[in-house]
Amino acid sequence: MTKKILITGGAGFIGSHVVRRFVKKYPDYSIFNLDKLTYAGNLLNLTDVEDAANYKFVKGDIVEAEFINDLFRTHDFDAVIHLAAESHVDRSIASPMDFVMTNVIGTVNLLNAAREYWKGAYDKKRFYHVSTDEVYGALGETGMFTESTSYDPHSPYSASKASSDHFVRAYHDTYGLDVVISNCSNNYGSHHFPEKLIPLAINNIKNNKPVPVYGKGENVRDWLWVEDHARAIDVIFHEAKTGETYNIGGHNEWKNIDLIKLLCGIMDEKLGREAGTSEKLITYVTDRAGHDLRYAIDSSKLQQKLGWVPSLQFEEGLKKTVDWYLENEKWLDDVTSFNYQSYYEKQYAER
Ligand code: NAD
Ligand code: TYD
Repeated sequence: MTKKILITGGAGFIGSHVVRRFVKKYPDYSIFNLDKLTYAGNLLNLTDVEDAANYKFVKGDIVEAEFINDLFRTHDFDAVIHLAAESHVDRSIASPMDFVMTNVIGTVNLLNAAREYWKGAYDKKRFYHVSTDEVYGALGETGMFTESTSYDPHSPYSASKASSDHFVRAYHDTYGLDVVISNCSNNYGSHHFPEKLIPLAINNIKNNKPVPVYGKGENVRDWLWVEDHARAIDVIFHEAKTGETYNIGGHNEWKNIDLIKLLCGIMDEKLGREAGTSEKLITYVTDRAGHDLRYAIDSSKLQQKLGWVPSLQFEEGLKKTVDWYLENEKWLDDVTSFNYQSYYEKQYAER
């Protein structure tokens, strides 16, 4: 069956894995990648699919309602998979309004366009909203987030994602749009912007720079291989019933400090350094304001109903991730020097 799918935020970390998966796995689908190319959007993430017959890149901002309406008017999309967002908690603490604009207003603009241009065909269309476990707030030493855990966001990032989730559900309940939402734990893997913990630490260790650990490093995150997230999105997109929510997680909890020590060991091995060398770079720094203590996802609904399970052991995934960063020095250099930002002009502007 032919499907025209609009994927937003496809030039980012997770979005690029989702775009790649859909372009390669579903040659009969037309994949439109809509991305503003903020600092986090990088078309170098997608060079292996950029010439595929079923792929098209569209540069644009989901905050611009008229532009979004035009796009929906021009293309009769069958579905949206919405990943575009401002995604970094520390940036949300510094500039909350950017998060309100993209994550809340941008999402509502997409919903409004879907509501308007899909009229009379809601049962044949699908709006898939990609969200985060951070909307559930923080856990203590025990317990896990389930799909029925109440929302309790603490950072401007998680508050903006919670708000967008509420709007998506409201458009289902009020107007009858076919929506699905997934809330995923922390992702790791290739093409991750080096401001987030794991790629930042890899890059700093490689360059013999301090590895900043917030507070005492006691905070716990549940890490999932990004390709397992993309596979979960694929399964949920195709199989979830309308209005449903799925939690996605790795059942893989790590205290930040333990994760960083594991990573330091892997880096010593890969770089041929004496054991213990990289750990000397660990530097405890002032804690993040409002820092959530622990996230842990119960993904049993997804496992039992749709048969999805994580594929990779964490240590294996971390080694693969380190290998990717060490083998893709040019990508890392381009990203850290912001060179990638001219790639759109070079490759696309004249197309
Ligand atoms: P990212 O920051 O790497 O990428 C975001 C992408 O969105 C970028 O390509 C950026 O250019 C684009 N974008 C930002 N503002 C835009 C706008 N106004 N219009 C159009 N495009 C815009 O983010 P990510 O880590 O890949 O996260 C993708 C989605 O998954 C987000 O919705 C995030 O909340 C969610 N999520 C992320 C994680 C994680 O661990 N990274 C975990 C769970 C859920
Ligand atoms: P991050 O990768 O920013 O993801 P999130 O805040 O969405 O979970 O951070 C992961 C964890 O690592 C979080 O507890 C904050 C911590 N952290 C550090 O200790 N040092 C750092 O330099 C960064 C970026 C994060």
